[in-house]
Amino acid sequence: MFDQLIKQTVQNQMSADANSSFAMSGNRLEDSHIVPDVDHSLPAEKNAEIILQQMTLEEKVNMLGGEDNLAIKATERLKLPKVWCSDASAGVRCFQRATAFPVPIAMAATWNRNLLDQAGETIAKECRAKGVSILLGPGVNIYRVPTCGRNFEYMGEDPFLAGELAIPYIKAVQRMGVITTVKHFACNNSDYDRHRINSKVDERTLQEIYYPAFKTAVQRGGTKSVMSSYNPVNGSWASENHELLTRILRDEWGFDGFVISDWISLYSTEGPLKAGMDLEMPKADFLTFKRIKELINKGRLTEKDIDRPVRNLLKTFFEMGIYNRPLKDHQYPEYSEEHSQVSLDTAREAIVLLKNENNLLPLNREAITRIAVVGKMAKETTTCGGGSCCIKSFEPVSILEGIRAVAGDSVEINYIEADLNRLTHSEQKMVEEADVAVVAVGFTSQDESECYDKSWELPYLQSRLIKEIAALNSKTIVTLTTGTGVETESWLTQVPALMHCFFLGEQGGKAVAEVLFGSVNPSGKLPFTMAKKWADFESVKYYVKKPDKISVFRIIGPQGKPKFRRIRDMEYGEKLMVGYRHFDTNRVTPQFPFGFGLSFTSFELSQLSLSETSIPVSRLTEGDKIAATIKIKNTGQRAGSEVVQLYVKDPESSLPRPDKELKGFEKVHLLPGESKEITLQLDFSSFAFFDDNKGQWIAEPGEFQVMVGNSSRNIAEKAILKLG
Ligand code: GLC
Repeated sequence: MFDQLIKQTVQNQMSADANSSFAMSGNRLEDSHIVPDVDHSLPAEKNAEIILQQMTLEEKVNMLGGEDNLAIKATERLKLPKVWCSDASAGVRCFQRATAFPVPIAMAATWNRNLLDQAGETIAKECRAKGVSILLGPGVNIYRVPTCGRNFEYMGEDPFLAGELAIPYIKAVQRMGVITTVKHFACNNSDYDRHRINSKVDERTLQEIYYPAFKTAVQRGGTKSVMSSYNPVNGSWASENHELLTRILRDEWGFDGFVISDWISLYSTEGPLKAGMDLEMPKADFLTFKRIKELINKGRLTEKDIDRPVRNLLKTFFEMGIYNRPLKDHQYPEYSEEHSQVSLDTAREAIVLLKNENNLLPLNREAITRIAVVGKMAKETTTCGGGSCCIKSFEPVSILEGIRAVAGDSVEINYIEADLNRLTHSEQKMVEEADVAVVAVGFTSQDESECYDKSWELPYLQSRLIKEIAALNSKTIVTLTTGTGVETESWLTQVPALMHCFFLGEQGGKAVAEVLFGSVNPSGKLPFTMAKKWADFESVKYYVKKPDKISVFRIIGPQGKPKFRRIRDMEYGEKLMVGYRHFDTNRVTPQFPFGFGLSFTSFELSQLSLSETSIPVSRLTEGDKIAATIKIKNTGQRAGSEVVQLYVKDPESSLPRPDKELKGFEKVHLLPGESKEITLQLDFSSFAFFDDNKGQWIAEPGEFQVMVGNSSRNIAEKAILKLG
């Protein structure tokens, strides 16, 4: 009970913090059209220099700290307008009504690059309509443990999948003139105590697991902003970590945008500026004129240390057209039916059908006269996890409303809340007499949120309810509303059908009902491994024992106040053994494997062939590619989509490598009986690993297995490639 009180307090304070800003107080940004007096046909770098030369030191420093919780200050004298940010990856959280999308992990479960593009474009249109120029997303932190409170906000356990799906999202948002902010760099893989826990990670693990999604977002997505995380990484706060913000991000990856801090995450002045920090949010606590002036007077900083971040900001704002357009673009709606349709399309493809014994689903509307819908989650269906990613859904469609709408008037729908007590006799009878029973379980946005981690198990009363309903009705379907995998072992054998429904935004309930009744053929695939037992995860050996245990002390203010306590190390001792890399390498049987998801039709993969079966490593390092071609056929009776997944195995290597690694995927829609040929490109990065002895990526000569399947555990075809 006390935990709930703390969580509620945190949620209230996070909302209060956000609402404290102009943006969240329900105000609408005023139209404005302030443009600096420069020749806008000049290159962005040139205009940035022209403005920089005109700025006083005070004006420069003024630009390095935010205001109103979500804005970068204007410089009136030079007609530099205020630049507004908003959270974030599932929609425009601030500035009144917006379309609420499925959360990022649900977007990832679609494995559909086109949908990520459409979602990004739609969210960016609403940004432009509202006057927002910086979207504080997407988040791409790796799903290291199943109980991170913010797993819902990221794109799963595999760095290749997360990076590949971040690309279309970033390109679409930035195509609309809105800056994306890839976050939280780096190793913020738990919110248990995000200010205090020092992520201790070896170089190879960083390079192969925790950096790649960010590197892809920078190099192939072209993100113009990166947000540093709260936590220290290998002993240095991310916000002043030169290794992260300069050596890796800029020197190694060529990042040329700006680094924005997470909110209240600087701990000094000189460190961040020397490390590569450009902008302190939500306001300058450390990058203040007074502090900076003192350090300049002491010779610890020079004006050049200030010019660098200001130049990054100015150049990016000119480059993205922010300094050459009105604040708002009224050609776009702030929300609309069309936008909501994109949210629904994404939700439809996110749902993962995990179990469907005797083809209980899809339900046959003609044969169904009575459905029992049980559980509070059916009526109050969580649409997003708690915290800064949560978009207020206007008129959200709950699972119960979705079922009622899709089933139609001919079907009697009996809703039983069954929240705290056992079913009454009449409720039991209602369930027994129903043709099917749908039990909706999962977490609220208070129990699954930023600022703290979550429980591995479902709430006890929900697990008990599943068993109780399954005992009363043999045709029980469970819908799971959460951003992560959960414990299912204690009840799974008792139910014939299970759907992972994530947090699906404003249209989620409709999408769930459409899958239940078969108007949508599910095509989602798990972006993470679901285990039978908590202890099956290698990573939890190096994590906290009670992730959902909360304490006021650790949560003083939603962001935590590190000065009240000392830093604690969290060793990423599992190294590369994250998710399926561990389960497949160490032969641990998952409950449901990475990449898994059932369909109402069936598919056959065949005829895998490689454009070459032998190639010198030198040709790969020179940029040559290998084409892997596979035939896929819809062998069932109805149209559907399948995700062709390509994994690479390096059986012999000088350093130990995971059993397999995802290196390609494509989602394909096929009519019954239809076949298609899919070609996936393999390059140096498909075979290379990071040799931390040599400090570089290498691909070693030898035989590699190229494997194609529809999950990490269901490989249909293999081919051998010899690297010379
Ligand atoms: C929060 C989050 C970050 C968000 C920012 C602004 O603490 O960590 O993801 O964008 O503050 O709300």
